[in-house]
Amino acid sequence: MYRTHTCGELRISNVGETVTLAGWVQRTRKMGGMTFVDLRDRYGITQLVFTDEINAELAEKANHLGREYVLQITGKVTERASKNSKMATGDIEIEVSTLNILNESLTPPFTIEENTDGGDDLRMKYRYLDLRRETVRKNLELRHKFAFEVRRYLDEKGFLEVETPILVNSTPEGARDFVVPSRMNPGQFYALPQSPQTLKQLLMVSGFDRYFQIVKCFRDEDLRADRQPELTQIDSEMPFVEQEDILQMFEGMSRHLFKSILDIDIPALPRMTWADAMKYYGSDKPDTRFDMKFVELMDIMKGYGFSVFDNAAYVGGICAKGAATYTRKQLDALTEFVKRPQIGAKGMVYARVEADGSVKSSVDKFYTQEVLQQMKAAFNAEPGDLILILSGEDVLKTRKQLCELRLEMGSQLGLRDKNKFSCLWVIDFPMYEWSDEEQRLMAMHHPFTSPKPEDIPLLDTDPASVRANAYDMVINGVEVGGGSIRIHDAKLQQKIFEILGFTPEQAQTKFGFLMNAFKYGAPPHGGLAYGLDRFVSLFAGLDSIRDCIAFPKNNQGRDVMLGAPGEVDQKQLDELSIDVRPIVK
Ligand code: AMO
Repeated sequence: MYRTHTCGELRISNVGETVTLAGWVQRTRKMGGMTFVDLRDRYGITQLVFTDEINAELAEKANHLGREYVLQITGKVTERASKNSKMATGDIEIEVSTLNILNESLTPPFTIEENTDGGDDLRMKYRYLDLRRETVRKNLELRHKFAFEVRRYLDEKGFLEVETPILVNSTPEGARDFVVPSRMNPGQFYALPQSPQTLKQLLMVSGFDRYFQIVKCFRDEDLRADRQPELTQIDSEMPFVEQEDILQMFEGMSRHLFKSILDIDIPALPRMTWADAMKYYGSDKPDTRFDMKFVELMDIMKGYGFSVFDNAAYVGGICAKGAATYTRKQLDALTEFVKRPQIGAKGMVYARVEADGSVKSSVDKFYTQEVLQQMKAAFNAEPGDLILILSGEDVLKTRKQLCELRLEMGSQLGLRDKNKFSCLWVIDFPMYEWSDEEQRLMAMHHPFTSPKPEDIPLLDTDPASVRANAYDMVINGVEVGGGSIRIHDAKLQQKIFEILGFTPEQAQTKFGFLMNAFKYGAPPHGGLAYGLDRFVSLFAGLDSIRDCIAFPKNNQGRDVMLGAPGEVDQKQLDELSIDVRPIVK
């Protein structure tokens, strides 16, 4: 037996036992005639003690142990003279009688402790060492528990986990595909699934009833803190359901996850229409941990000669409670913040509500106190509050800018506590959104999403105003999941493809399999998929989903440890009939 116990489990009740442990040297300390070694494994750290008095030869050997050496030791559990209440094993130590060095280690390139001196790149290059750090490991333990509880809940509800293939053809989810060349079919490519969307719909046609899968999906899109090219979804689909059934089922799952993992009881999820989310928060994923809703001021502030507002299609603002103490310098910094190219506002107007209730604004010369008081009333503002206003010619763009400002103020005022969770459903998404890049309507969710039955007549007259039976779950401003009721009628599906600009031939080539399947008794169905990485990183309070992925990619989509992507041999290229020309820069 390599070990009788782990490094995390010995307690005062084990005193007197002879045990064998195995693990890595976290650190060694020599104090007089004694050498202390912290031995670490996944479960914790146990202190080993070697004394000159008991065994001088062993103590000498211990003095030469390097960091991260792999040891097996046998010894007696004894009560510590000075206990460490911060460690689970802090009441005891092991008086070592046998020391077996299982492997030596080079000095690691960074310290394997909570506060490491390793920068991001170095830690990614040596990710296997980074994963020895408790903080990182804890995130993966949480991820395991999360996936386990998902499976427990869905299994109890009768869901069946079915694997779908990774080598498929393109599924349109709005990102680019990763493609894989086929050796046996020269010049042809598989695409890696952006999601198992069409396959899970086929499983519904097959009568599999409730399906789920914890599944890798691949999207070649620009990476951000909450995006990876390889993501994991908790994917699901149910037949014979309406939107309400799905919302209930997955609200239940979320409640189970919050309770079983964080011991938090979440209240029933409020529902907000997409239109309200955009109007009051400028985002389809509002952070509702704090209020600071948008107030529109077109009626109040236009027409007084302030041309910036007079010419704007949108004038609106937020009221930051108690922030009238903001200095000129802080306000200038906020103005700079909204003017950054990533946000793109032209400027910001501010107004303070003074102790006597009067309003002092940066545009006082255009407005009488009477108008400013009307504005104050619109915000329900009180003495000590700060009002921040943006305006612009494009309503949607200006709302998005105001959204960034709101989030920034939320952060500055400490209103975005990671330990507080605010969940909601955003519902009634539009079917389509206009793409400037493509110069056409694109499916907002995906092309298999069903329009609201009452909006179907609008498909012919005003497709942009058609609402979908689509929904997202949003937590703390993060879209953790989304789904929809699907189209199960081949004719309606054909029509939607047409509106999206596919010719009948293109639709047939790309999605003929699905439309054919619908001709063989497709049940009404719908579903949803969560981003597991996002959900777990919210639970773990992480800033980036990378920290809950064992081997993530960096922002250039690279795995610097593996050196992927990398070049392949000419022989492999020849077999794949791929002619790679040198890139001309
Ligand atoms: P959607 O595209 O909204 O829907 O994806 C579902 C959820 O997956 C997560 N997600 C991501 N997480 C990390 N990195 C990414 N690049 C990434 N992209 C998406 C998000 C998102 O809410 N087939 C549909 C679902 C359905 O209709 O049932 C789909 O994939 O948390």
